[in-house]
Amino acid sequence: MQGLSNCKNGVKCLFSYLVFVRHPFTTEAQFVKADIKADKMATKKVTKIGVLTSGGDAPGMNAAIRAVVRTAIYHGIEVYGIVRGYNGMVEGDIFKMDSKSVANIIQRGGTILKTARSAAFFEPEGRQKAYENLKKFGINGLVIIGGDGSFKGAQKFSNEFDIPCIGIPGTIDKDIAGSDFTIGFDTAVNTAVEAIDKIRDTADAHDRLFVVEVMGRDAGYIALHSGIATGAENILIPETKTDIEELIASLTEKEKRKKLVNLVVVAEGDELGGANEIGAIMKKRLPNADIRICILGHIQRGGAPSCLDRLIASRMGFHAVECLMEGRINVMVGIVNNKVHYTPLDNAVKAKQKISQDWFKIVKILAS
Ligand code: F6P
Repeated sequence: MQGLSNCKNGVKCLFSYLVFVRHPFTTEAQFVKADIKADKMATKKVTKIGVLTSGGDAPGMNAAIRAVVRTAIYHGIEVYGIVRGYNGMVEGDIFKMDSKSVANIIQRGGTILKTARSAAFFEPEGRQKAYENLKKFGINGLVIIGGDGSFKGAQKFSNEFDIPCIGIPGTIDKDIAGSDFTIGFDTAVNTAVEAIDKIRDTADAHDRLFVVEVMGRDAGYIALHSGIATGAENILIPETKTDIEELIASLTEKEKRKKLVNLVVVAEGDELGGANEIGAIMKKRLPNADIRICILGHIQRGGAPSCLDRLIASRMGFHAVECLMEGRINVMVGIVNNKVHYTPLDNAVKAKQKISQDWFKIVKILAS
């Protein structure tokens, strides 16, 4: 009965309990699955799945591909790899995969299927071509591993054609609602932390102030998490307005009391700009400080996925195939409170995760 008490609304909970309980030890995930209304279920059985990675690559995408391929094969479903995201769908760059195609990839960054941000797929003609190519291969279900741009594409496609699309959140930015984690975020944050720790060593040796830029065009999670984990004095993110006067005042105060090592972590998408812009302002306003700038850039996207990223990728990939087998359409497989959670794709792209104000309080107090 644990699943019942976890449901948000009593009626749905009872419904999910009655519909999805197969035996008394039904998993927690099965309760959450009932959140999607039954009228959105597909009627045709999925027999051939296409899998693709789209948008910016993220460490752990390979682990997700592996999980999709091997789960599908286990269930007797054929799997096709689509190369370079939606571009491969438009151009018909599609190949049959087997268990061996995904051997020895769980530990590798990047994506064996390659990735792209496809302009062609955002045109109606491109989507029509993509559909015809899927039909040629007999593909009648898709798993899309990517971020919000990729899900927007999936949403458009599934509104126009009868192909159920299941999303797996794969982005280092963690800017998708409906999942506590996105594949790649944990690895990217750990890469940033390792780099910032190294910067702190040299900052300390020279009594310097460093402005470090991390990735995140629209989301500040990498900055927030890596900044807190490395004891940064200030963290600047796109979700909150950056008060430059407050920043200068806090650094001036630290300068006065001879706190000489200071780290400012800025997300590339901060409204005042990245490390170059913020650094330029600081150099003008703090003429006595010895300021250096470091942009971490794409190293955050590469490298072996962390254990967490491999685990969530495996779990999400497995459930994505189950989703298709159960007839679900157009949902994203996420993990919320350590339970598998399905969110309609349009909600996943519309809503963003909220950043709690508590974090800022923590930064202020701990970095004093
Ligand atoms: O995938 C997310 C992301 O890494 C953002 O944080 C960043 O702004 C963007 O991709 C960079 O994209 P590209 O590799 O195409 O320059």
